[in-house]
Amino acid sequence: MNINLQVKNGETSLKALILVGGFGTRLRPLSCTRPKALFPILNKPLLQWTFERLVKNGIREVILAVSHQAEILIKQQKIPKNGLKITYSRDLFKKPLGTGGPIKKAEKLVGRDSPFLVLNGDIFADIDYKEILKTHEKKKALATIALHNVKDPSRYGVAELTKENRIKTFVEKPPRKLAPTNLINAGVYILSPKIFEYIPQGRKVSIEREVFPKLAEEGRLYGHIFDDLWIDIGEPEEFLEINRTLLNSTALLQKHKMRTRGKIEEPVAFDKNVLIGEESVVGPYAVLGRNVTIGNNVYIKDSVVFPNAVISDFSIVNGAIIGENVVIGKKVKINRGCILGDNVKIEDNVTLANRVSICPAKEVSESVLKPKCVI
Ligand code: GDD
Ligand code: MG
Repeated sequence: MNINLQVKNGETSLKALILVGGFGTRLRPLSCTRPKALFPILNKPLLQWTFERLVKNGIREVILAVSHQAEILIKQQKIPKNGLKITYSRDLFKKPLGTGGPIKKAEKLVGRDSPFLVLNGDIFADIDYKEILKTHEKKKALATIALHNVKDPSRYGVAELTKENRIKTFVEKPPRKLAPTNLINAGVYILSPKIFEYIPQGRKVSIEREVFPKLAEEGRLYGHIFDDLWIDIGEPEEFLEINRTLLNSTALLQKHKMRTRGKIEEPVAFDKNVLIGEESVVGPYAVLGRNVTIGNNVYIKDSVVFPNAVISDFSIVNGAIIGENVVIGKKVKINRGCILGDNVKIEDNVTLANRVSICPAKEVSESVLKPKCVI
């Protein structure tokens, strides 16, 4: 097969298409106001981590498959491009195209000369894209999927392989008992241009449900197993987990010599301009965004706080995600699994039990003692 991929000084003409649309239902309400790809991981948008990995892999050209709103928000972030050429391919207005439709929509931008890389925009993966490409070429595949081993495959696409790494069955989100293996679709693919013939135009298409099973039947779908770090940040606990994992990785650890009378329990990560008051204990595993202000006698651990939030005296935050510009009053308790949308205000003395989510801009003056979503 002539694939026309040129590699020069470690650079490759392999194009990458990143899926950044859709709705992140399980990360609501924070995903109401930003695509999952813009969630901050150690204070850097996930998309920026992805761009950096692409550049490291010698990739120079990226197409972002976006909704109208996602495009605006991504542009506002001004993510450093590091030499990447970025183009946008929009879904239909107010009509999401799923995971396959945006690939078909980007056909002209991708071109028909050579295989291309597709990434789900909500995964953090330490993966060598060139290795998948090698498997793809060797097997003369039409599509090659990066596969990862997980304990519970039921939330993912699951693949069953032959000895030659051909995927003989692909099932999207099977009930746990019916999952044929624990090898899941990591949301990273190399696709050959022939794939465009398999995706209907102008409508929502699930590549996992409508295209992959068909390719498996035709014997043109292959898998490439990798063991390195992989997380889909689509759920609150996973979002906290990737922050914890990266905090643990010593390469990123930097001791925090801040002028604070509070106590810092490493590992933590602070963006610019974080203020911490007297007697407060911050960490372990606290990630504080730009301009976050912490009062006196505050306890905060295992949590991610987005930029410009204020947490006032004697409050406790444990295992929560706090949105941008949130203001938390005094003596507030926020427990595990809580998610506070952007611009939320919590008044003094309020307690939020485990797994309470609060919609953007809501003011809360009374405790919420059961898991629920406050609209
Ligand atoms: N442009 C665009 N338009 N992108 C979309 C749309 C859409 O309508 N719908 C979803 N996406 C993007 C999401 O932003 C995400 O980056 C990716 O497509 C996958 O969608 P999810 O909604 O996150 O799917 P999932 O996590 O339930 O399952 C997918 O990912 C798993 C791995 O994380 C599937 O590909 C599974 O097979 C896979 O195991
Ligand atoms: Mg996902």
